[in-house]
Parts: sequence; C-alpha cells; structure tokens
Amino acid sequence: MAAPLFLRTPTFHTLSLNKHFTLPSTLNIKSLSILNFAKMEGSGIVEQVQEKLSVKKVFVAGATGSTGKRIVEQLLAKGYAVKAGVRDLDKARTIFSSDNPSLQLVKADVTEGSDKLAEAIGDDSEAVVCATGFRPGWDLRAPWKVDNFGTVNLVEACRKRNVNRFILISSILVNGAAMGQLLNPIYILLNVFGLTLVAKLKAEQYIRKSGINYTIIRPGGLKNDPPSGNVVMEPEDTLSRGAISRDQVAEVAVEALALPEASYKVVEIISSPDVPKRPYHDLFGSISQR
Ligand SMILES: NC(=O)c1ccc[n+]([C@@H]2O[C@H](COP(=O)([O-])OP(=O)(O)OC[C@H]3O[C@@H](n4cnc5c(N)ncnc54)[C@H](OP(=O)(O)O)[C@@H]3O)[C@@H](O)[C@H]2O)c1
Repeated sequence: MAAPLFLRTPTFHTLSLNKHFTLPSTLNIKSLSILNFAKMEGSGIVEQVQEKLSVKKVFVAGATGSTGKRIVEQLLAKGYAVKAGVRDLDKARTIFSSDNPSLQLVKADVTEGSDKLAEAIGDDSEAVVCATGFRPGWDLRAPWKVDNFGTVNLVEACRKRNVNRFILISSILVNGAAMGQLLNPIYILLNVFGLTLVAKLKAEQYIRKSGINYTIIRPGGLKNDPPSGNVVMEPEDTLSRGAISRDQVAEVAVEALALPEASYKVVEIISSPDVPKRPYHDLFGSISQR
C-alpha cells in the first residue's frame, strides 16, 4: 500500500551469556539452544555461531516493496540467507544484486493460495516475514484479497511447512474502532478504500489464533527518509499518530527474529527525536504478551 499515511542506528547490542561471552543479538536463540554449550570455549564459539547464522534462511513476502526490500537488505547484511518472495521476478532482478549467493528470488503471489506459497517457502525457510500491502488500483477488494486473505494464505503455508516464526508488518490504527478512533481521518481514509485497516486486523487475529510464534509490528506512517529519531515502541491499540522511517521498520522486523522478547507480541512503533535510543531487547521486553 503506497497511500500517503502519514530512523537508522546499527544495533549491535549484545546478549550476555556469562561473564566470559557475549553474543550478537541477531543470533537465533532457538538455534543457540541446540548448540553444544560444552564446546563453547575460546575461538570455537565464534565459529559455531557464524555457522549457525549462515544457515538461517528467512522467507520475505512482498520483497520488492519499499519496506520489504529494506528487510531483505538488512537480513543479508546480518548474515541471514533470504528467500525473497516476489510477484515479478524481472522487477526483483532490477532491485537486488544477482551475485549474492545468500539471496534467492522466488515467485510468490499471496492471493494464489497456500499450496503455491508453501512451495515457494520450501522446506528450508525457518521464518517468514510478511511485508506485503495491496497496490492501489481499480479493484476495491484488493486490500481484502492481499492484506487479509493473502496473509492468511501465508500463515497456512507456514503451517504446511512447519515454519513456526512469523513477522507481520501491519499498521497502527488497525483496531481504531475499539480505540475510539472511528473519526480519526486516517482511520476513515484507509478504510474508505477497501476496508484496508479492517482487513489487516482480520489477518492479525488469524495469526494470533494460529499457534505460530508471531510478532506483529504496527508502524505509523512510513517514510523513505533515513531515521531522524529513535524508535518508540508501545503496546497494541496505543498509538494513533506518528511516523517512522522504513529503515527502522525493517530493523525492528530483523531484530524481532532473533529476540525471544519479541515472541507472541503486537508492538506499535513510530520514531521521535525526543526519546533516548534503547536496545531492542529492552523495547520488546517492555511490551507484555496478551
Ligand atoms: N504507507 C504507509 O504509510 C503505511 C503505514 C503503516 C503501515 N503500512 C503497511 O506497511 C506495509 C509495507 O508498506 P510499504 O509502503 O513499504 O509497501 P509497498 O511499497 O506498497 O509494497 C507492497 C508490497 O506488497 C507486494 N504485493 C502486493 N500485492 C501482492 C500480492 N498479491 N502477492 C504478493 N505480494 C504483493 C508488492 O509487490 P509488487 O512490488 O510486485 O507490487 C510490494 O512488494 C504494508 O502492509 C502497508 O500497508 C503502510
């Protein structure tokens, strides 16, 4: 969705294991748990961690979108392997470098059903990030098809492939009616065209009931500009205004993948120059599960 609705500091904070070791926050805790701690001594730990990171593959739906491409780029920069789900392979080839062995482009239209998506996700993806959004056009049902049913198809595809980690880029105000924001002009505008926010809320509800470990990220208005403030993270149904750089939204999605504090949570994010920079484990840790 490119409707005019409405920052980036590298986050290499560390996770302390004990007084001898610190690991990058990008490390997948599930992967970590299957490593043999008994062998984690001296330089061996570094080799094992790098090995684990290099096999981690993430499927990104909507990878040619303005936020999706940033998520792909940041995942690659952090050492993940990426399967970029795109509608148009030629378009994707103009966006992404063809010589990165960690990047695979696969055709994936979320409206084509869960079987095709499961095929695209394959048996090697361990997490799915959904950054899709309908493209405005004549079809008033597009938001419902893409932002509701499309996301539901993706969740079903995860079930078929036993993928148990799902990150969704949603939006603030999806639950605007319950927040008393029915007359908020943004809520009205986005729902007048195809009930976009309602469609997203329906998809969120489906994910939350699916049993899959989810992080639902609801950003404020998206900007292509680089970050000009720090991330503000609030619980669901809290924020009704504000904006954030797509770079930061991508960063939040990538960090969520590695942080246990992000599991089974809905977070709302904007950015502000008036708040201090906080590490992501702190931000996610401050939001409770519901
Ligand atoms: N714009 C805002 O201010 C704002 C605010 C809050 C939340 N959001 C939400 O944040 C998310 C990302 O927004 P964005 O503006 O970065 O997105 P965007 O640039 O509009 O990109 C949307 C992506 O979805 C893909 N897509 C559309 N229909 C699809 C389908 N049937 N199957 C598979 N992929 C499909 C598009 O593919 P193609 O490249 O092939 O078209 C594109 O990659 C969206 O969910 C949006 O609703 C937006």
